[in-house]
Amino acid sequence: MSKVKDPSLAPQGELKIEWARAHMPVLRKIQARFEKELPFRGITIGMCMHLEMKTAVLGQSLMVGGATVTITGSNPLSTQDDVAAALAASGAHVYAWRGVTPQEHHENLLRVLGHNPRVVIDDGGELSVAVHTERQQLIPEMIGACEETTTGVHRYRALEKDGLLKYPVIAVNDTYTKFLFDSQHGTGQSALEGVMRATNMLIAGKTVVVGGFGWVGRGIALRAKGLGAKTVVTEVDPVRALEAVMEGHRVMSMKDAAKIGDIFITATGCKQIITSEHFAEMKDGAVLANSGHFDVEVDVRALRQLAVSTRTARQNVEEFKMRDGRRLYLLAEGRLVNLAAADGHPAEVMDMTFADQALCAEYLVKNKGKLTPKVYGVPPDIDKTTARLWLETHNLSIDSLSPEQSRYLNSWE
Ligand SMILES: NC(=O)c1ccc[n+]([C@@H]2O[C@H](COP(=O)([O-])OP(=O)(O)OC[C@H]3O[C@@H](n4cnc5c(N)ncnc54)[C@H](O)[C@@H]3O)[C@@H](O)[C@H]2O)c1
Repeated sequence: MSKVKDPSLAPQGELKIEWARAHMPVLRKIQARFEKELPFRGITIGMCMHLEMKTAVLGQSLMVGGATVTITGSNPLSTQDDVAAALAASGAHVYAWRGVTPQEHHENLLRVLGHNPRVVIDDGGELSVAVHTERQQLIPEMIGACEETTTGVHRYRALEKDGLLKYPVIAVNDTYTKFLFDSQHGTGQSALEGVMRATNMLIAGKTVVVGGFGWVGRGIALRAKGLGAKTVVTEVDPVRALEAVMEGHRVMSMKDAAKIGDIFITATGCKQIITSEHFAEMKDGAVLANSGHFDVEVDVRALRQLAVSTRTARQNVEEFKMRDGRRLYLLAEGRLVNLAAADGHPAEVMDMTFADQALCAEYLVKNKGKLTPKVYGVPPDIDKTTARLWLETHNLSIDSLSPEQSRYLNSWE
């Protein structure tokens, strides 16, 4: 049972999934083991993730491992309808289509929970928040959850801090093989790709303002610089601001940056990064995009109120005409630009992240009943396994410590 936009799009979606799978050798290796060992036999896994081709490969790997998979999208604009159709055709219960309303999104979350999942894989904490608030009857049987992104980890930690978290959660986001590669290089590349696909603008010579210099922001700033942009970073953390300075970016307040930026990309996980006071200062033609999890970083409501008229300038580009004649361009409604206006991260980086997800889900099942309701880091073995498999599958070898070197490193003498 599934609810997708058009089931006849499945063959087109399967082609995309095949392409992703071909570039995800680590997950293929894990899947081959799952096929023999069936670690998820009899278990339903509920997922709320950006439903595009790499996510479908993860879902299919879990099914090969014996799971029943039920999934909805984690953002109204990131679902690819052909991929959703193909995943449904391959046996998952899919409730997702591009452009869901908030009401439909909520209904889809509850449809996923209607399958009584015992493991949750979340991107933003949405399924688990729904379990904790609306479907508490699922809690006694729940084995645990894995969380994909920074914003979701914040929400799970907040639940834990308030003493409300009811099952163990693994913060998959917080592991090296996730944030060093996926958040930094994956989002760095794909956010710029989203801006370029949406606008067809030249990046070289432009002033690109990046809001936040975390893992995502530093990746975006690095790629923008590599494309020839003059990069500006805004921050609230002095250490991160200092890092940005040392990496060659200009650092200033958003109020100052607003006056000089050509392209703005937010990646803070916080809200109201670009607001009315900034829109008032911006140049004619400034482009606004967001790569943080929720659509709260650019104050879109205020932009609508300030505008005398709006129109769709191109796909994923909305033009806002200001009273003084300036035009500001908002990409993808202020939602994740890399997923809404491009294909998200390249498969090679999602291969690592989703290997972490698959292995963490397996870890939760293997340790059923042994973990308490708190937010756990990814077991270090899993991080190392993923990194080792990635190197192996790319025919890269590294050295290993000799016994003498090991002794030397472990000695105080
Ligand atoms: N687009 C994607 O595909 C994608 C991928 C990974 C993460 N994310 C999302 O991107 C966001 C950032 O993730 P991250 O891992 O880089 O987080 P992070 O915590 O490493 O970095 C966020 C940075 O923003 C700064 N910041 C916070 N509030 C600010 C403000 N008001 N003004 C300026 N700077 C501010 C923080 O000091 C921090 O340095 C999160 O919402 C995360 O979920 C998106």
